[in-house]
Amino acid sequence: MMRYHGTITAVALHTSRHQPVFIRFNTQKLATVEWEKMANRKELGLAVIGCGVVGRMRSTLAKDFPGIGWIGLADINEDLGKKLKNDIDADYFTTDFRELIARPEVDAVIIATSTWSHVEPTLAAVDRGVPMLIEKPLATDARESAQVLAAITAADIDAVVGYTQRFRRRFLATKERIVTGQIGDVTAAVTRAFMNRMAPTGEVRLTQDRRFLTPMVVSGTHSLDMCLWLMGDAAKPVSVFARSTDRVMSDLGTKDATFGVFTMEDGAIWSMNICWSLPTAWPGAVYGLEIGIVGTKGVIDIEDTHRDTILATEIPQGPAYNPDGLDLKVQRGVDFLTSFPPGDMYGGELWGPLREETNSWFQRIYSGKKTPHATATEGHRNLLLTMAMDLSAKRGQEVLLPIEPDELMAGLES
Ligand SMILES: NC(=O)c1ccc[n+]([C@@H]2O[C@H](COP(=O)([O-])OP(=O)(O)OC[C@H]3O[C@@H](n4cnc5c(N)ncnc54)[C@H](O)[C@@H]3O)[C@@H](O)[C@H]2O)c1
Repeated sequence: MMRYHGTITAVALHTSRHQPVFIRFNTQKLATVEWEKMANRKELGLAVIGCGVVGRMRSTLAKDFPGIGWIGLADINEDLGKKLKNDIDADYFTTDFRELIARPEVDAVIIATSTWSHVEPTLAAVDRGVPMLIEKPLATDARESAQVLAAITAADIDAVVGYTQRFRRRFLATKERIVTGQIGDVTAAVTRAFMNRMAPTGEVRLTQDRRFLTPMVVSGTHSLDMCLWLMGDAAKPVSVFARSTDRVMSDLGTKDATFGVFTMEDGAIWSMNICWSLPTAWPGAVYGLEIGIVGTKGVIDIEDTHRDTILATEIPQGPAYNPDGLDLKVQRGVDFLTSFPPGDMYGGELWGPLREETNSWFQRIYSGKKTPHATATEGHRNLLLTMAMDLSAKRGQEVLLPIEPDELMAGLES
């Protein structure tokens, strides 16, 4: 391998999508640059299925990632998809995701379709044998989620799931302290998620089949994943007891809140709670979270409600999550800034965790970088646990874990 030793002042990159770009390394010394490796790296072709809020964010980031040379898009909403193609100057658009996945240029796939429509495109991408970033949840039916996981595992595909909050500095710092033993063994944890009802209103707008679009399956899954990830491999749930209420959100075909307590194999307890029926006037535009984790030697207490950056104005603030077709008339004069989980807009660009997550995934598929993305196995586990909370609430009884997908679905569908 040819190596270069010395000081580099400028490097010119040429790609098919990008004009030559000169990157200046002022006084920085790069001791060793593996020129051959860089030169031999192939630009990737990326397929993005689903051109809504999240598909738009991720494909806009792809446009600026130097290792991506081709972007194809698919959405059943032709106007929305064509607009995105135009806005980011993508290479291809179709209303048929199978047609996109079959394109010879495709090396990786992002599944950013609606919450309940991940399974078919994911299985089609598995057949293609390429790495994937799949939005949560893996499915909204535990049997289908098991089928998806089995297909991914059998094909030995690097598939990750979009648990975006893992990419925030505060949670990475927490994880590092727990992994290195700074609080000892975890004995008790508590998670409280509060959400403005604007978010679920937007989430359910495209479907009438809302049986499994519950607060835990759709949104609590983020904080459930976070807490389990922080607690680490020792946290093996053996039972859950939960209760739900639906006074406000039943009109939308979903529930208001689900609160539960998990017990772990080693006796640790974890209280997992979400309520997504807060009034539209609530200053948290989308998500507010508190997590406390107590160990044998210490504690980590995380305040993530976003009450530390408050806007108060006479100019009405609309919804932060504003997908195509959502027509909410809200008058909010106070806003907890940074409470929209993917990030915030500045200068026409998204800044925040979804940017970090997406760019890290591009590094993962382009240069093989190790990243903290949730695996498909973790995505499947998360769905089973969120649904187990719903089942426990439905039965009014403790549910023993692990539970088989068939038993879970039979209980929820009965
Ligand atoms: N990572 C995060 O922080 C985060 C935030 C919000 C939403 N999400 C998840 O991202 C996904 C997308 O959410 P969104 O907010 O972008 O929703 P959205 O409604 O804005 O976009 C979804 C798009 O998928 C399209 N679609 C549905 N079925 C399709 C199919 N079979 N083929 C092609 N296109 C299809 C719809 O037409 C729509 O345009 C969901 O799973 C959601 O749960 C993740």
